Amino acid sequence: MSTAAIIPAAGLGLRLGGETPKAFREVGGESLLVHAVRGLQAATAADLACFVVAVPAGTEDAVRKELEPYAGDARLLVVAGGAERADSVRVALELVPVDGIDCILVHDAARAFVPAAVVERVVAAVRGGASAVVPAVPVTDTIKRVSTAGEVVDTPDRSTLVAVQTPQGFDPAVLRRAHATGGAGATDDAMLCERLGVTVLTVEGSEDAFKVTRPRDLLLAEALLADRRL
Ligand code: CTP
Ligand code: MG
Repeated sequence: MSTAAIIPAAGLGLRLGGETPKAFREVGGESLLVHAVRGLQAATAADLACFVVAVPAGTEDAVRKELEPYAGDARLLVVAGGAERADSVRVALELVPVDGIDCILVHDAARAFVPAAVVERVVAAVRGGASAVVPAVPVTDTIKRVSTAGEVVDTPDRSTLVAVQTPQGFDPAVLRRAHATGGAGATDDAMLCERLGVTVLTVEGSEDAFKVTRPRDLLLAEALLADRRL
């Protein structure tokens, strides 16, 4: 049995700014998308057999050419994404083969530097019987719930809070059921499983799996990569 990876990379990166969609922005001379594919490939225990990448409409052919050298023996499918992240995941999910796949990963291109150990932990937990698995790290800020008027409503106990990352891993049937419900307002895939009442398991994430979101994250990414290349 093998793993399939869906990579949502169709966002515009409005918070990052710039002319190019975020997944095509370069760090250390290569796009975030290339780093993301390579990062998943490095997780050899995941047995990746298939990548389905959702990209901005019109860029499919160029991306296919760019990614081919990095896909190894895995099958590479590139598809135009949708308006929201959940739409992009849904169109990609339709292309994931049913036979021979016991785990589907969904991994943001923007989390391009996830360590292989995190990917392997997620896959191992799915193979161990979990229906849905997310990598998580403790939050360091005090988080407050606020009203629309900007007034603090309350302060959840920080020890009960975590920040979750990708890749998130799923039993294929569960992920298909979750996306069949529609993804309105969902910022990750685990949320759709929660709505179905499915238990979502956390495993240890990594600071390196941060999401490139704002301009200063590119500086962090350059520094991290330079450090790894030392
Ligand atoms: N994504 C996608 N399709 C969309 C929106 C987002 O595939 N319609 C992808 C992004 O390319 C990214 C991941 O989902 O890899 C996480 O989204 P986010 O970090 O929010 O990226 P963007 O939506 O591109 O950025 P922004 O919200 O700042 O515009
Ligand atoms: Mg977004």
